[in-house]
Amino acid sequence: VYKGIFQTELPIPEVKAKTYTYRNETTGNEIDFYEVDVRPFYQQVYPGLKPARLVGYDGMSPGPTFKMTRGREAIVRFKNHGDKDLSVHLHGSFSRAPFDGWAEDTTKVGQYKDYYYPNKQSGRTMWYHDHAVHHTAENAYFGQAGFYILTDPAENGLGLPSGPYDVPLGLASKQYNRDGTLFDPKDETDSLYGDVIHVNGQPWPFMNVEPRKYRFRILDTSISRAFKITLEDDRSTKLPFHVIAADTGLMTKPVKTDNLEISMAERWEIVVDFSAYKGKNVTMKNARDVQADEDYNSTNKIMRFVVGSKVTTQDGNGELPSSLRTVQFPPRKNGIDKSFKFGRTNGQWMVNGVTFSDVKNRILAKPQRGAVEVWELENSSGGWSHPVHIHLVDFQILTRTGGKRGVLPYEKEAMKDVVLLGRNEKVTVIARYAPYDGVYMFHCHNLIHEDHDMMAAFNVTSLAD
Ligand code: C2O
Ligand code: CU
Repeated sequence: VYKGIFQTELPIPEVKAKTYTYRNETTGNEIDFYEVDVRPFYQQVYPGLKPARLVGYDGMSPGPTFKMTRGREAIVRFKNHGDKDLSVHLHGSFSRAPFDGWAEDTTKVGQYKDYYYPNKQSGRTMWYHDHAVHHTAENAYFGQAGFYILTDPAENGLGLPSGPYDVPLGLASKQYNRDGTLFDPKDETDSLYGDVIHVNGQPWPFMNVEPRKYRFRILDTSISRAFKITLEDDRSTKLPFHVIAADTGLMTKPVKTDNLEISMAERWEIVVDFSAYKGKNVTMKNARDVQADEDYNSTNKIMRFVVGSKVTTQDGNGELPSSLRTVQFPPRKNGIDKSFKFGRTNGQWMVNGVTFSDVKNRILAKPQRGAVEVWELENSSGGWSHPVHIHLVDFQILTRTGGKRGVLPYEKEAMKDVVLLGRNEKVTVIARYAPYDGVYMFHCHNLIHEDHDMMAAFNVTSLAD
């Protein structure tokens, strides 16, 4: 049993510095160049036991945070000094196919690969994580995940909390061995829910906050656990808060709620006002019985905010604007263009009966470049939930049927790149398949399911069939 719940301060991953900037002779644009070393490091989680051996970007977990500005291109060199093949996916970026972290495009130990990132999308909280074929769960779980925040000058006039009041919170759920080392998920074929909740790498941390507004960028990096988050005072009264952004950046308007559902790879940003809680605690909790996940003693706790008495600055502490931005939803169209069943047959995870190892059959769709299509995603596996991620595109969730939930209020105001299919749920999503041609993956983001081939591909093409 972990003894120090809410005893250790929340770490904030350091911001990645560029190596240098150079000018592209052809375009005249400046390009920032970064280098990341993937290497082993040790983390003492249980005092008196062995430290856990992890392998992370620059020897950290989460990796350093990239803070990029819309309109400035970047190249990131990832050097593999770890012990397994790796591939890096920038989740949320419309990267060209060769830089999208295709699962079989692995960088071997001792090699490096340069990834080009256009940074041309609207401001959003992205994350970079491993995507190596059949090893993604292990690599991500042992540390290869980090924030990549694309800032957009268009957000500057909104008066949102910024600087030290804009905080990334990367959630994860893990399991340790009796000797203090991290349990290896390599033999799991179902899910690894984990009994230890981490935020930014630290189990159950606390954070000192001022009695004012904060923006939290919440990301679920867990390999199998989804959360239903509440913020509660010491009497277990739930605080209201506002959801302001999703996977692809700001929503049309803030949505007030007192609970937030977040599954693997999703990003939701919230604004919380601590001004009424001077000198008190506010605890971030997780519900019991979220989806099909297993509960343990303390998986209903996430972290604690310890509210002080002094406000240093009123910057970004005003009223939230009633509208945040004009989200470019795709034009509505009727009908369903393609249907995909996320299922399980004789213990094998599949998409429409196909596995990612089935190389000849795994391209399940060929959208014309620029076409707007409606895809139906169905959970036909029985007792599991599946967060489905479609690479390259931003999509709008149109419907959710078959289970207990409809489209959630905050999902309605957002464009997404991951959507959770709860038990028996069927979701329709609409997206424009652009801007590039190429073969891209779509898959379940329960990384155990992904590694066991619940992954397929689509080929965006400008050629007629
Ligand atoms: Cu976040 Cu295909 O992955
Ligand atoms: Cu799944």
